[in-house]
Amino acid sequence: AEIGARLREIVAAHARLDGPLLPILHAVQAEWGHVPRSAIAPLADALNLTTAEVHGVVSFYHDFRDAPAGRHLLKVCRAEACQARGGRGIEDSARDRLGIEFGETTPDGAVTLEPVYCLGLCACGPAAMLDGTLHARLDSDRLDALLAECGA
Ligand code: FES
Repeated sequence: AEIGARLREIVAAHARLDGPLLPILHAVQAEWGHVPRSAIAPLADALNLTTAEVHGVVSFYHDFRDAPAGRHLLKVCRAEACQARGGRGIEDSARDRLGIEFGETTPDGAVTLEPVYCLGLCACGPAAMLDGTLHARLDSDRLDALLAECGA
């Protein structure tokens, strides 16, 4: 019920926009840290969309998550230039070290692992971003050290 009232305010604030769905979803995620499953149906109703359409947009854009993030957010670049510089090894190290897949959060809530497609550091990849800080020329040891620093 609490989500419902706030959700109606968010929808009302964006109702006059052309294509209000994306700005509404950004506002929803800013409010709750993710797009709650329970918000999908009311949003679809309010915007004359099907729940499948709203769900499709949420899952298409990497910016939206359907569950709360962990205390730390690790985004590993999976775009081509980084992959050509050994990014796949970093992807594997991150998965192994955390024991989770991309899009998941460690069971203790410490770290969420997400893909990102270019961080603008292509010439000095592999690159990743931890809690908003960019890291270039990563290798497994440095990744380990970074994760250890944040208690993962
Ligand atoms: Fe990874 Fe550009 S491809 S930073």
